[in-house]
Order: sequence, then structure tokens, then C-alpha cells
Amino acid sequence: MNTLLLLFLLSWLIVASVAAINGTQTLPGCQLKCGNITVPYPFGMGAKCSIATWANINCNTTFRPPKPFIGDIEILQFSETEVRIKNNIAASCYNQSGARIVHVPAYTSLLGTPFTFSSTKNKFTAIGCDTIALFSGIQGVNFSSGCTSVCGKREHVIQGSCSGSGCCQTSVPRGLNEVYVSTGSSKNYTDIWSFDECGAAFVAEEDKYTFNISDFYNIPSLREIPVVLNFAVGNQTCREATQNVTGTGYACKDNSYCYDSVDDTGYLCSCNKGYEGNPYLNQGCQDVNECEDVNSNPCKGICTNTRGSYYCSCPDDSYGDGRKDGDGCTKKSLGFGLLFLLLGGSWLYLSIKKRKLIKLKEKFFQQNGGLLLKQQISSPEGAVKSTKIFTTEELKLATNNYDQRRIIGQGGFGTVYKGILPDLRIVAIKKSKIIDESQLGQFINEFAILTQINHRNVVKLIGCCLETEVPLLVYEFVANGTLFHHLHKTSREMSSISWDDRLRIASETAGALSYLHSAASIPIIHRDVKSANILLDEHYTAKVADFGASRLNPLDQTQISTLVQGTMGYLDPEYFHTSQLTEKSDVYSFGVVLAELLTGEKPLCFDRSQEQRNLAAYFVMSVKENRLFEVLEAGVVNDGKTEHVHAVAQLAKRCLHMKGEERPTMKEVAAELEGLRGFEDVDLYAIPSGSYSSDSASRMEKEPMWSMDVPR
Ligand SMILES: *[C@@H]1O[C@H](CO)[C@@H](O)[C@H](O)[C@H]1NC(C)=O
Ligand SMILES: *[C@@H]1O[C@H](CO)[C@@H](O)[C@H](O)[C@H]1NC(C)=O
Ligand SMILES: *[C@@H]1O[C@H](CO)[C@@H](O)[C@H](O)[C@H]1NC(C)=O
Ligand SMILES: *[C@@H]1O[C@H](CO)[C@@H](O)[C@H](O)[C@H]1NC(C)=O
Ligand SMILES: *[C@@H]1O[C@H](CO)[C@@H](O)[C@H](O)[C@H]1NC(C)=O
Ligand SMILES: *[C@@H]1O[C@H](CO)[C@@H](O)[C@H](O)[C@H]1NC(C)=O
Ligand SMILES: *[C@@H]1O[C@H](CO)[C@@H](O)[C@H](O)[C@H]1NC(C)=O
Ligand SMILES: *[C@@H]1O[C@H](CO)[C@@H](O)[C@H](O)[C@H]1NC(C)=O
Ligand SMILES: *[C@@H]1O[C@H](CO)[C@@H](O)[C@H](O)[C@H]1NC(C)=O
Repeated sequence: MNTLLLLFLLSWLIVASVAAINGTQTLPGCQLKCGNITVPYPFGMGAKCSIATWANINCNTTFRPPKPFIGDIEILQFSETEVRIKNNIAASCYNQSGARIVHVPAYTSLLGTPFTFSSTKNKFTAIGCDTIALFSGIQGVNFSSGCTSVCGKREHVIQGSCSGSGCCQTSVPRGLNEVYVSTGSSKNYTDIWSFDECGAAFVAEEDKYTFNISDFYNIPSLREIPVVLNFAVGNQTCREATQNVTGTGYACKDNSYCYDSVDDTGYLCSCNKGYEGNPYLNQGCQDVNECEDVNSNPCKGICTNTRGSYYCSCPDDSYGDGRKDGDGCTKKSLGFGLLFLLLGGSWLYLSIKKRKLIKLKEKFFQQNGGLLLKQQISSPEGAVKSTKIFTTEELKLATNNYDQRRIIGQGGFGTVYKGILPDLRIVAIKKSKIIDESQLGQFINEFAILTQINHRNVVKLIGCCLETEVPLLVYEFVANGTLFHHLHKTSREMSSISWDDRLRIASETAGALSYLHSAASIPIIHRDVKSANILLDEHYTAKVADFGASRLNPLDQTQISTLVQGTMGYLDPEYFHTSQLTEKSDVYSFGVVLAELLTGEKPLCFDRSQEQRNLAAYFVMSVKENRLFEVLEAGVVNDGKTEHVHAVAQLAKRCLHMKGEERPTMKEVAAELEGLRGFEDVDLYAIPSGSYSSDSASRMEKEPMWSMDVPR
């Protein structure tokens, strides 16, 4: 049974990697080749095959092989970001007595198309020993430029260089979409006619041309040097385009991101890191199998490919990070013989224990409330109806026997593994370290609480396993890591969160907390609200997680005296001093999260000066002293409407009030944030419940998902 499953997974992986090697390049049913030239989407032959009329290719079959045209421009090569066309040459030639016998100016217009001459890859080039060359744009970009090449003798010509002696070059301005080129002379070529009768000029790809004096006699051959044209798929910026992802117009598809074109003419798409293929097509960007090429794979030890990434590990008999650029793998000093002995011994030991284990499993199942749970599940209207009871074997298989490489979070009281269920659903499996009774209590506590909650913005409990000494909890896998991670990222890999997303995350989190406080059947205080406990899914939808410390708050008492728990920097000072736990402690911690969202600063940072060390205090101070805009993150200032930013800052300040009584309730906070967002776009981000996209499930395979590493 297990072998079958493995075989199935393996064949699935193989199919996936084959698809990656030759991912699709066109819409279904569309022709890929015009003659021997590949025409990838967004370009296409026929209106239904291209993204818009400007990208509609006319494949002219009167040529052998057929040639692709856009309007009257012949295209030599298409790529994701640019196309190459033939250049247009301007030239003039003189006879021995100095009369101009040939004069051909060149005009190329890209007006009315989204194409522009690439300013980075093209150069304006002129050749000849008595050449004055000019180029200008008239309608798009008004400018005029040119260069002069003069050489008195053949020996003065510098081969291979365009420094003004035989050849000269100048750069092309950005955004140029029309060019007029002409050539002339200062002395009618009379002195140099013996070795140069003509001058020529053109705009073309710099890297494809090396000046050679033989070009003086072979000007038509210069037409083969291509010109690089940039394009943009939409005439909006990414910001404008991504605001309307739900519209049909947004061009960047699965596993891709948007970027603005260099010429500011619009935006383009590119596959995410770890993916390659066509970003404009659904399923176009495919995972790169980094491990496939034995020579270029990044691991010294075992390389395991994942979607969008990979990881390295070492065989069982050695340790290290397995990376070529890291520690590699070092053999454990333990001899093989000894290892075998140990293994043999432990096998014997285990088989004796096996019988005992079965008995133990039953005991734990009962001890962990398994019978009660079973009853509830079988009862028709149990809140826990959707909670599945897993067996030890199922979860062992799902986590590859608690493979170290599957760890996605680790900390004070447990380890979180990434697991794959037989139905290929990806889940997060939380396993507690059993250190003392209280931690077991926390664990069971979390389970008890989560079975009672069903909220879009609270991480969903899928099931549990009660056959082990401590229950294992199985959650939905939330693909995009924690808010903490996104706000305080160290690498530039992740895109920064837009203001709209920040506001929405705040509003969703507030909504979830408000639900916990007042809407759930028993009021629940989270007790450890922090950005590291707010997970983000592929749509940046917030999911509140980690209910280990939470308390069910009996209805008849609003204050409970407890052992102080929480995370430094987020901890409500009133609760800290009085040990009186109320809902307002969550409000305070949420206020810190709001301050984090506004400033992008960590709540507690010892790199900051003494007075700025605690974000909450220094944020409140800044708001009071009207210095808010000095502490905001740059993106927030540019992105957000000033009055909205102000309103959120005021709200954060109120949440951070020293006296719990003065703080607003979570319900008020949620309502205010919802109000700021406006109601019209509330449903834009709604995802049908139960739907699950495995595509984006593991972009951040190696990022910690759960934060338990912050001291409680
Ligand atoms: C795609 O892969 C299949 C199987 O390896 C191969 O037969 C086919 O020629 C490939 N197609 C392209 C366009 O590379
Ligand atoms: C296409 O065919 C022409 C002539 O047969 C050849 O010169 C050219 O290099 C080919 N282009 C590609 C991209 O294969
Ligand atoms: C193909 O090219 C030929 C020669 O340039 C031209 O006469 C003809 O109109 C073109 N055909 C199409 C369908 O554009
Ligand atoms: C050069 O061209 C001019 C005008 O066409 C002509 O009068 C003259 O004879 C030509 N000179 C020579 C050397 O061909
Ligand atoms: C050669 O150039 C001079 C100006 O430099 C011009 O006056 C003269 O007419 C030209 N000669 C011919 C034959 O065009
Ligand atoms: C460029 O100049 C032309 C005529 O001189 C004028 O009609 C056009 O509006 C100008 N374009 C820009 C972008 O300034
Ligand atoms: C210049 O062109 C000639 C003839 O095409 C060739 O033999 C020579 O190697 C070229 N020189 C350079 C420096 O490219
Ligand atoms: C952008 O493109 C759309 C459709 O292609 C067009 O209707 C609109 O006028 C364009 N806007 C600008 C500013 O060019
Ligand atoms: C979003 O896209 C839809 C459909 O393309 C369009 O009707 C709507 O006006 C767009 N909204 C904004 C704000 O651009």
C-alpha cells in the first residue's frame, strides 16, 4: 500500500518535471511556429491566439520559409521581454569628383504600437571616414543626436572599435518609438575616396556588431544586425494593473510577478524565482528542477526538488547542511559496525516494545479524549464534525517519518512539519515536545479551542492524532509564511506588501480576534497576538494561528488571573503588572501589530536607541508629537491615502493605551478598519471555502511557518 503510494507520487513528480522541460508557449490550439521562428504567447497568429491586436502576428507564407510580420515590420526573434527586427540603414556614397551619387535616409516608425527601441541594448552607429550622421525622433520623443567619424588615411581606421575613427557610436534615448536617420559628409569624400566611397548609419543591437573596415564596401550586409525592441503587455503600471487582478485584463498568470517596463510604457511579467516558462499563460511558469543536472545542482549531499525551490540534506550516516556553498556533509565518526549493532539492537528492542506500543496507543487515545471526540464526531451536530482523526501511521507517512527536512517551524514547545496526505493535500502537522505537563496542557488547549472555531481568518484545524502520548494536530497549510516574515524580511526576494494589503490584513486579523472575543460560542482570548502568529496564504489573506496559550474565557467572569504569558514587545503592560487577563490584552498586542504594519519596524529591537527600543512606546510618542510621518515606512507613505494612514495610526494609539479600559474593543477596531477599507471591495478576496490551490502551496518551502522561536 505504502509502496504504491510512493510509486504514484514518484510518477506524478516525473510527469510534473517533464511538463516543466517543455511547458506550453501558446494558447491551446494555436500555432507555435511561423517558418522556423517560434512565436510565444502573448504574441500569436490570429486574434484568438494573441493577447491583443498589437501582438497579432501575420505569418506571410509567400516567403520560403514563411516570415512573421507585425504591420510591415518583419520580426526575426521573439522573447519574453523583447523582439528583434532587421534594421533600416541610411547611407550616402560619392563619386571620385565629390558628387553625391547615392543618398538614402532611413525612417522607422513604431508609433501606435507598444514597442520602443531598447535604450539599453541598441546603439546609434555610423561608419565611414568622412561621415556626419544624424538621428532624430519627431513625434514620440522630440530629440536630435548624432556622431561624426573622420579618418584621413586607411591606416588611421581603428578596427573593431567605434571611437570616432572609421566608426562612431552614441546612445539611444529611453522610450524612443520613431527614428529618422540620415548621413552626410564635410569634404565630399574627395580626399579619402581611394579607400572609402560611402558612409552609413543605423540603430541596432550593440552586442551584435563589431566594426570592420570591410563594411565600407559591403553596406547592405549591415541590415542583418538586429534591432532590439522592448514592449509592454499592458499600458498600465503594475500598481494600476494589480489593483484589478479580478478583471480579465491582468496578464501575469500562475507563479509569476509583474514589473514595470524600463521605458515606463506599461508592465511585463516574469516567472517567480525557482520557476521558468511563459508567465503570460496559465500553468506557463513551471518549477525548475534544480536537482536534475548532476553538475550544476547546488547540493553536495542529497538534493530534493520542491515547487519553486529545493533543499539539500545529508545521508543518514553524515551531518551538515549538504550544500556545495555551505558545510557539505561530514561523515559521522561512528563506525558502520557499531551502527549496525545499534540498529540491530534497537530493532530487537522495538519488536519487543511493539506489543506494548499497541496497548499504549489505546491508552493515549483514551487519555487524550479520543472517546469523547469520537462521540462528538458521530453525533449529528458536533462542531467538530469536520475534524478528522488520523492514525499514527497516516501521519508518519505524511511526514516521511518526521523527516528533518520537512520541518517548517520549530521552537519552545514543539515542531511543525509539512505533510502530504494520501489525497495529496498539503498540511502542517504540529508535534509537541513533551517536557512537562503544562505544555501538554497548552497543546490540548489549542486543540479544544480550534475545534470550536470556524472562521475564514483563523487557521483551520483539519484533524488530529490521539494515539501518541501528546496529540498531533493537523492544520491547513498556509503557503506564504508569517506576516512578521514579510514585514521584516532580510532578503529582497519577497515583494513588499502594499498598503491595501496591509489594511486588509489588519482588518481581517481584527475581524478574527473580534470573532474570538465575542462571536464564538465561548469567548476566547488569544494571548499571543503578534505578526509571527499571523500567517498569510497565497492571496495574502490573514490566518490567525497558534492558540497554544489561549484561554477560554468563561462568560461570567471577564477577568482571569493567570500566569503571565505572551511575547515581549507585544505584551500588555497592564496584564504584565496585574496578571489580570482580559480581552483588552489582545487589543494591546494588536495595536503593536498595527504599529508594525505602519512602520515596518520590529516591536523590540536592541539595535535601536534606548528610547526607540520598544516600538509601542516610541510609536505612541511619535503620534502624540505629530511626528507620525517620520516613523512610517516609505512604502506606506507613498501607497496609502494620508487620511487612512492617519486614521490607522490613531487607532493603533488607542489600542496601545496604558489602561485597558480606555482601549477600544476588538469589535470596534474591526469595524473601524472595515470602514476604512470601504465595503465595495470586501468580497474581492473571498475564496470559496474548502478550495485549495496546491500550485502556490509551497513557494516558501524553507521559510518558517510558525513562530515559536520568540521567547514566551
Ligand atoms: C515535449 O516532451 C515530449 C516528451 O519528452 C517530447 O516528445 C516532445 O517532443 C517535447 N515537445 C517539445 C515542443 O519540446
Ligand atoms: C531560419 O532559417 C533560416 C534559413 O533557412 C536560417 O538562416 C535561420 O538561422 C533560421 N533561424 C532559426 C531561428 O532557426
Ligand atoms: C506577403 O508578402 C508579400 C511580399 O512582400 C506581399 O505582397 C503580400 O501581400 C504579403 N501577404 C500577406 C498576407 O501579408
Ligand atoms: C561625378 O558625378 C557628377 C554628377 O553626376 C558627374 O558630373 C561627374 O562626371 C562624375 N565624376 C566622375 C569621376 O565620375
Ligand atoms: C563638395 O563640398 C563642397 C562643400 O564642402 C561643395 O561646395 C561642393 O559643391 C561639393 N562638390 C560636389 C562635387 O558636390
Ligand atoms: C515634437 O515636435 C513636434 C513638431 O515640432 C510637435 O508636433 C510634437 O507635439 C512634439 N512632441 C512632443 C512629445 O513634444
Ligand atoms: C574583417 O572582415 C574580414 C572580411 O570579412 C575578415 O577576414 C576579418 O577577419 C575581419 N576582421 C575582424 C577584426 O573582424
Ligand atoms: C490602454 O489600452 C487600452 C486597451 O488596449 C486603450 O483602450 C487605452 O486607451 C490605452 N490607454 C492609454 C493611456 O494609452
Ligand atoms: C477592473 O477591470 C474591469 C474589467 O476589466 C473593469 O470593468 C473595471 O473598470 C476595472 N476597474 C478598475 C478600477 O480599473
